[in-house]
Amino acid sequence: MGREFGSVGVVGLGTMGAGIVEVFARSGVAVTAVEISDTALHRGEVTMRGSLDRAVAKGKLSAADRDALLGRVTFAVGLEALHEVDLVIEAVPEHLDLKQRIFAELDRVCKPEAILATNTSSLSVTEISVATTRPNQVIGMHFFNPAPIMKLVEVVRTVVTSQDVVTDIEALCERLGKVDVTITDRAGFIANALLFGYLNQAVSMVEAKYATREDIDAAMKLGCGLPMGPLALMDLIGLDTAYEILDTMYRRGGRDRRHAPVPLIKQMVTAGLLGRKSGRGFYTYEKPGSPVVVADEATPVAADTTPASRHITKVGVVGSGTMATGIIEVFAKAGFEVVSVTRGAEKSAQVCERLKTSLNKGVVRGKLTEQDRDAAIGRVTWSATIDHLSDVDLVVEAVVEELSVKKALFASLDEICKPGVVLATTTSSLPVIECAVATERPADVIGLHFFNPAPVMGLVEVVRTIRTSDATVKTATDVCQALAKHAVVCADRSGFVVNALLFPYLNDAVKMVEASYSTADDIDYAMKLGCGYPMGPFELLDVVGLDVSLAIQRELYLELREPGFAPAPLLEHLVTAGYLGRKVGRGFRDYSKR
Ligand SMILES: NC(=O)c1ccc[n+]([C@@H]2O[C@H](COP(=O)([O-])OP(=O)(O)OC[C@H]3O[C@@H](n4cnc5c(N)ncnc54)[C@H](O)[C@@H]3O)[C@@H](O)[C@H]2O)c1
Repeated sequence: MGREFGSVGVVGLGTMGAGIVEVFARSGVAVTAVEISDTALHRGEVTMRGSLDRAVAKGKLSAADRDALLGRVTFAVGLEALHEVDLVIEAVPEHLDLKQRIFAELDRVCKPEAILATNTSSLSVTEISVATTRPNQVIGMHFFNPAPIMKLVEVVRTVVTSQDVVTDIEALCERLGKVDVTITDRAGFIANALLFGYLNQAVSMVEAKYATREDIDAAMKLGCGLPMGPLALMDLIGLDTAYEILDTMYRRGGRDRRHAPVPLIKQMVTAGLLGRKSGRGFYTYEKPGSPVVVADEATPVAADTTPASRHITKVGVVGSGTMATGIIEVFAKAGFEVVSVTRGAEKSAQVCERLKTSLNKGVVRGKLTEQDRDAAIGRVTWSATIDHLSDVDLVVEAVVEELSVKKALFASLDEICKPGVVLATTTSSLPVIECAVATERPADVIGLHFFNPAPVMGLVEVVRTIRTSDATVKTATDVCQALAKHAVVCADRSGFVVNALLFPYLNDAVKMVEASYSTADDIDYAMKLGCGYPMGPFELLDVVGLDVSLAIQRELYLELREPGFAPAPLLEHLVTAGYLGRKVGRGFRDYSKR
């Protein structure tokens, strides 16, 4: 018979502790919630009540259940209140010496059979455990923020944790309605080891003024389907906590520069900008603890409605692949006249067929009337020569991802197109400036990075080079608005915003499997259930294609020379072996038998 855990204690009622108390109380467990002072206790209680009241307001919890839940919680100052509990979960700030002191004290106060768990995100559970006389009863229980919502718990066993303790904590997680992934004691465990490099990199983009906070967050939400952008997530985690986690991961995790906290984080912490909990971090909130963002001096002023200097009615799209076809559809549906240029009549016929199939799907799904479909098709003219682009106002190039081909095309466009035309490339990995300097009009050249499938994805990265004019940027963002796409303006750097932040994370996941720390299945679980990602990294790699992913990662590595960006050898081997993902029936997973 395993342990019952009739009563638990939670130490620290901050961002995580308050949520953890709620998780246990919701499952009918009696909880003693402990803080360091009356003030902190009161603040924690207010946080918890706020969360419960929001759940009641949203109809997710009845008022009676809220009252019953609160009836199970005893609030107290000082660890002495925990002498009777079966399990303690510690959630105090991320400092080793503080946690060790608390564990030594818990060891003295708690009954001998009690299990002591830490919610640390990055510190060594082993080092915390040796502050007690019962390291075999010490374990990591890493909940995710917000604890009542996120399903994952990383259960961290040290080399001395008893198996029966691990088994009982796993059973408890199940009883709490959580999914556990049991792992060994390594900096950042699974989720944070994959998450924090990405968060830190996003902050460095803000620091370098590469793109705005709103644009970076919108890019990751719309481009990857993430529940929130990295900067909003930093605010939710708390910048002080994020700083400590990064710092520990840097020191414990092999001094990977990507974990060295970006200086801006420390500056913000010093200035008291801790995120939601203090009412201000990367964004400003209605009041401390509130999730409601309010405008501040960095909020973009309402979209500039002065018309673009260049009026766009006719658009040329060059190419015959998936992206070109999608882009033709997007423009035609939005009412633009489109000239499609491919390399021959046969290709044009294929693109036309695919366009019709896609539009027909829209009709079947009730998203488009037959009239709209016919009007969209009627707006497209088909050509096999770029000579027909002499009177268009904008050209979007979506040909093969080879620099020599694109450069030659831009040189030809330069000869054929009328002056003042915006020339755009939809490249996802090549420098836009290379296309720009292939022409005599680099100020008119810009990147318009659509996402696949273009008719569905709401994001376009508008990439300005060091030669792009403001008027061209304005025209491009206005066009995106007319297409009902969210334009994110960024500089001409490898990977722009989305790929630069996404692929290193995917590559890190591969390295984690390669190092035998965890499995593809557990890592996919961790990112989906712990961070709310729509797909785990291995699911996504198999969908994107391992060859494509490797090529992007190589580009990032070559441009930025960041050692941590070096492609994972396992990824290279899988590509060499022909395991390219879903498209060939096998990647990280085997799809042939499914
Ligand atoms: N914030 C996150 O998203 C997140 C997610 C998972 C895990 N964690 C981990 O959870 C732990 C807590 O982080 P947080 O973000 O909730 O921090 P926090 O700063 O929001 O809260 C910490 C709380 O601990 C209290 N405290 C400090 N010393 C204490 C003591 N001696 N006795 C009792 N209470 C004390 C503080 O008053 C404060 O309320 C850290 O180890 C962190 O790494 C954080």
